[in-house]
Formats: sequence, structure tokens, C-alpha cells
Amino acid sequence: SQLEMFVDELPDMPKIKCFEDAANGAPKPKKLKIGMFKKKWKFHRDLPPTPVYAYGTSKHTATVPGPTIEALHGIDTYVTWQNHLPSKHILPWDPTIPTAIPRKKKGIPTVVHLHGGIDEPESDGNSNSWFTAGFKEKGPTWTKKTYHYHNMQQPGNLWYHDHAMGLTRINLLAGLVGAYIVRHHDVETPLRLPSGDEFDRPLVVFDRSFRTDGSIYMNSTGNNPSIHPQWQPEYFGDAIIVNGKAWPRMTVRRRKYRFRIINASNARFYRFFFANGLRFIHVAADSVYLGRPVVTNETLLAPSEIADVVIDFSESKSDVAILANDAPYPYPSGDPVNDANGKVMKFIIKKNHELDTWRVPEKLIKYPSPDPSSASRTRYIAMYEYTSDIDEPTHLFINGKSYEEPVTETPKAGTSEVWNVINLTEDNHPLHIHLGLFVVLDQRELVKLEEFKACMTKYNDAIKCHISKYARGKKLEVSEHEKGWKNVYKMTPGYVTKILVRFSYIHSNASYPFDPTAEPGYVYHCHVSKFLISCLLFIFQWQSFMV
Ligand code: C2O
Repeated sequence: SQLEMFVDELPDMPKIKCFEDAANGAPKPKKLKIGMFKKKWKFHRDLPPTPVYAYGTSKHTATVPGPTIEALHGIDTYVTWQNHLPSKHILPWDPTIPTAIPRKKKGIPTVVHLHGGIDEPESDGNSNSWFTAGFKEKGPTWTKKTYHYHNMQQPGNLWYHDHAMGLTRINLLAGLVGAYIVRHHDVETPLRLPSGDEFDRPLVVFDRSFRTDGSIYMNSTGNNPSIHPQWQPEYFGDAIIVNGKAWPRMTVRRRKYRFRIINASNARFYRFFFANGLRFIHVAADSVYLGRPVVTNETLLAPSEIADVVIDFSESKSDVAILANDAPYPYPSGDPVNDANGKVMKFIIKKNHELDTWRVPEKLIKYPSPDPSSASRTRYIAMYEYTSDIDEPTHLFINGKSYEEPVTETPKAGTSEVWNVINLTEDNHPLHIHLGLFVVLDQRELVKLEEFKACMTKYNDAIKCHISKYARGKKLEVSEHEKGWKNVYKMTPGYVTKILVRFSYIHSNASYPFDPTAEPGYVYHCHVSKFLISCLLFIFQWQSFMV
């Protein structure tokens, strides 16, 4: 039976400030301890409590999603992430895919990645730097307990989530996600965008299915059980959860609010729209502010993308506005949405009109625009999957190589490169690059796709296969609100997406011990949990890290 929609109030996750407000003078860095706990969480009024994994400063205060971490630009954050999870996972996992498996087979490997963070590699949450409860067992690249986030980057929206090898998809499903905001008052306050706890809110959105006893439902039989007993390529749930409640409701005043919408789903894309015509005023994307606000009627978010929008409820003609979704799943050619996953949440708009002190300025924050001529090199990155006889995608490859193979791409800190990402799979893949900001330059359809694929299967080399002869089809426009700097973008199937990547570096006065013999490395990967480790692809190593 279907749960009743819009009966629970939208919660606000607890906030953790990661700076000390000094009595007088500048704020100071603070050391935080954030744990992962097993507990029960109420996702809906009529659903029994669900066993989950939750981030928090104690078991009692832990939440799903986890607390919203608020950082200040220029003030370092130190977090000791602590694993308090018992040894048996609440969800089925599959040891036949590359997976973090503790030697003594006890404990659940976890490691935290700050998605969008520009930090030292040792604090990046490498999939092989996992650890179990009490740091009893650690993965091969583990180096330290306390992660250091520099917060030297532009103000914007990040999120933190589990990143452990082979377990990312189930650790996320179990609840290990949360929002992280970098604020920079000097540049943001003059904008006078909606701010403060009431008017500026993260919305962490994901999909889940539940059994009648409240537990998270995940099919425990693999699509191809003779090879992978439990592994399922993608996860889709019918209940849409916002800030830990299924289809919640929120009562708002007739004025502007700012919502930082994070798609924390494993595989579901959302195309959000308001059934009553309310619009989204985009002010930022997943990394930084836009130069100018962009108004849209709908907004498509791939897993891990963030839309930072102002919604002006004074424009609403009705007293109720349903936030809805119409993105097929898998995107773009899967099933159409149904009554359940086509609805997200409900806003109840108070009747009386108010004076609105917030505004959306004509100009936001302008960052240098991309200059392709500054690129120090051009790379071709072809993604494709091999399909087994029984029609199951078995592995995602890049230029014919799997994640386990040696590093092939070694960009230098502080340089820019043009990447042509060639998507030869059937699905749209959100490509995410750690530590790099990029701008999408254009998307071009491949003509004679089958011919090109056949050549690539043989040679794994886009130049040898005359990519320029094929990348001559339709042009897909990049939406105005997605033309800024981003850390993840949707790679359209059958297209070449050209991006200009700027490999960032930590501000030069950041100091920390850097061990050149360690093998930290950054990764880029697709953010759909379809493939082995959240389809984590392969590492490019960080050379000449210190600038
Ligand atoms: Cu959001 Cu490598 O991850």
C-alpha cells in the first residue's frame, strides 16, 4: 500500500559550525568529531522506524541525512570521522566485485569524501583509505584519522558522503550523506540573497523503497547471480525522501527562499518543476556562484549535482505548490515516473503578503571565464561498457581500461586541459572530477555511432578512430544556468562532451605535511552507482602537488 504524501513536516538537519566564534576578533578553526552510528530513523508517519546508518556528533543526535556542516572561507576545518558501526551490514553487499573487505572480515569499511572539496589528497576519502570501527582495520591507502579541509575555495555547496570501495552504493543507501556549505560573508552578504536558518535551506533528495516493517528494501539477488550473487547495477526507490522524510511538506511565507538542492540518490535523475508554474531562479550550481541569476521552469539534476535556487513564493497564484519530477529512470530512456516518484514535496504558502527584505541582484559573482587556448593539453576519454551474453553490463571502461589498472592521466596542479568525453554507453553518466572545476564547452552527437564503436572496441583510441570524422552531429545547448564552473556534469549518451578542466591547487600558504611517497591520487568517476564502486573509474595521480 502506498504511504500518504505530504503528512510529515520538512525537517532541518542539525547544523555544525566548524569554526569557533572568538569573543572578539576573527573566528578560529575548530576540531570536530563526527561519528557514523547505526540507529533507527522515522522516514514517514505511518512507517515503522527504519534501521539506518547516520552521521552525527553522538548516536542520539545523528540524523539521515547527516548534520549540515557550515564552514567559513579561509578557516580550516578538522574532522575526525569515526566509525561506530557494528559488523553486519543492514543491506546486502557483494564480495565478488572489487570491494573493501577487512582481513578479519569484521566491521563495515567506510571512508568520507567531501564532494566538491579542494583539499589535500590524504583528506579526500580515497576509496582504498577505508577504516572499520575504532580504526581496527584500514585500507591500503589509509594515512590518517583526522581530515583537514582548507575551505580556501569559492563560497558554495558541497556534500559529504561515503566513498568506500565497492560499498559506496550501500553505505549511501543506508544513510551516509550530508550537506556542507562554504560561506564567505564578505562577498555573499552584499548580495542580500535569502539567508539565515529560516530562508536558506539545504534540501537533500534521494529515493528509497521500504518493506512494511520499515526496513530499506534492496533486492538481494543479483541480475546475474551465477557471477555476482547480490550485485544490482542500479538502485531506484519509489518513495522520494527530502531531508529524511518521504514527500514532506513545508509551510512558507509569501516571499523568497533559497534552496540548495542536492541530488543524493544513487542513480535517479530528477527533472524538477512546479505543477503551478512557480519558477527556479538559479544563483549557483554545484561549485560556485553564477555571474547572473538564471530563471527556469524546470531543472534537471543528475546524481550528485546541486542546484542552488531562489524560489519566490509571492509569485504563486495558488496557496499550495507541489514540487514534482518527470525524469525517466534510468535517464534518459528508462521508465516514465509514476504517481509516487513523480512527486517530491509540497509547499503550503501562507495567504498574507509580506514585505520581502531579500532580493535577487542582477549580478552575482563573476569568476574568470574559461579560456580554451590556455589548455596545456587535450585528452579523449571514451566511456563504454561491455555487456555479457545475458545482457548485463559488466564493467565500465575508460579507453578500454578498468579502475584497477595503473593510472593513465596525470594532469599537473594549476593547469587547464580540454577533455573530450565520449559516452558510448546507453545511459547518461554524471562525470565527477575530484579537485577540478570544469566548464562545459559543448556537446556534439556522434554520427555513424556503430561504426565508431566498432573501431573503438578494436583500438581503444579515439584519434586512431578519427573522432573528428564522427563528432559532427547535432549540437546540444548547455543550459544557461549550467555554463558556470562545475564539478559534475551529465555526459549525454552517443555524444562527445567537451569540457575545460582547471586542476586546482590548495592556496600556497596552506601548510601540512605532504608525504610524496604516499600514493594519494584523485579520482574521476561517474556518479551513478551502476557499476562496481559507484562506477569509480581510475585515479589520476597528483604530481607536484605543492605549488
Ligand atoms: Cu561524490 Cu568521488 O564522489
